[in-house]
Amino acid sequence: MTNTEISNTITNKKTILSGIQPSGKLTIGHLCGALDSWVKLQNDYNCFYMIADLHSITVRQNPASLRSQTLDTVAIYLACGISPENCTLFVQSHVPEHSQLAWVLNCFTGMGECSKMTQFKDKAKSHSDNINVGLFAYPILQAADILLYQADLVPVGEDQKQHLELSRNLAQRFNHYYSDTFKLPEPYIPKVGARIMSLQDPTKKMSKSDPNEKNIIFIEDTKEQIINKIKRCVTDSGTEIKLSPDKPGISNLITLYNIATKKSFDNIEKEFYGIGYGDFKEAVGLAVADYIDPIRTKYLEYRNNKKMLNEILSYGAEKAHSIAMKTLRKVYKKVGFYPLEHK
Ligand code: TRP
Repeated sequence: MTNTEISNTITNKKTILSGIQPSGKLTIGHLCGALDSWVKLQNDYNCFYMIADLHSITVRQNPASLRSQTLDTVAIYLACGISPENCTLFVQSHVPEHSQLAWVLNCFTGMGECSKMTQFKDKAKSHSDNINVGLFAYPILQAADILLYQADLVPVGEDQKQHLELSRNLAQRFNHYYSDTFKLPEPYIPKVGARIMSLQDPTKKMSKSDPNEKNIIFIEDTKEQIINKIKRCVTDSGTEIKLSPDKPGISNLITLYNIATKKSFDNIEKEFYGIGYGDFKEAVGLAVADYIDPIRTKYLEYRNNKKMLNEILSYGAEKAHSIAMKTLRKVYKKVGFYPLEHK
């Protein structure tokens, strides 16, 4: 057993696994929607945090960009406080068991189970020129990610709940057909999952794949970029600074200010009572810029140290592989694959 395994057996910590695709620059939404809670979970759980590069090629990627965004994503994880000592930080394609288990699970999944997935239907629409089998089987690979590590909890956004349901169904089906093999994972939806909306269209979620960068605050944006983007964002009619469903633009700015300063919504409304939209935008811009800047600085430091990033990834891949191979070995045995004799 490795040291991590020994300490986890002793403390009986529950296991968590989650991942983000390296298919674009990470945003303030990833920071407060995922990474912040991942950091908090590190001490109390046995955490596996992955960069889901296998998933990302279900949509065409430029190879050089994919390579560099993979390292960008690692550096962002680290800058946010993910610690390679306290968790297992790795790249999905470095651990071959993900693809291997996915194949076995493919053979346990009905076509209808995949074709009814909302995300598949959406992506098939937005990438109608490339509706490939990988896009269809995407949630099965995700199930493999989760089941390989016997994860108890999977922190994900609401949009991933359906995929989690499939992971549970596949685990149950396999366990029932053979014998107990996989733990049934539960979704873990963070309590303070503030939804950050697009800056130019605050009725849509801020998304890293939005082609218009003016809609997005990236973790690697400079202070000036953040201040300018917020200055130019769309607000609503009226003059009041108040959270309200009919004020999506102002509500989004209040949310951003709340994230950056940790002040309560009530206090924010009081603080800006009677103040104009222009001044409010300026205050939000400055606060968000100050919030992101130290993370950006750390990000650049890590990103410029490729040697260290490579070492972290090889350490992570080894730790992940040592667990994943055990699950895969059991699975291969149960399905009846003839084992290779080791002399
Ligand atoms: N599908 C997830 C997303 O787009 C990313 C992902 C891949 C993932 N494998 C995972 C998330 C396993 C949680 C667990 O957000």
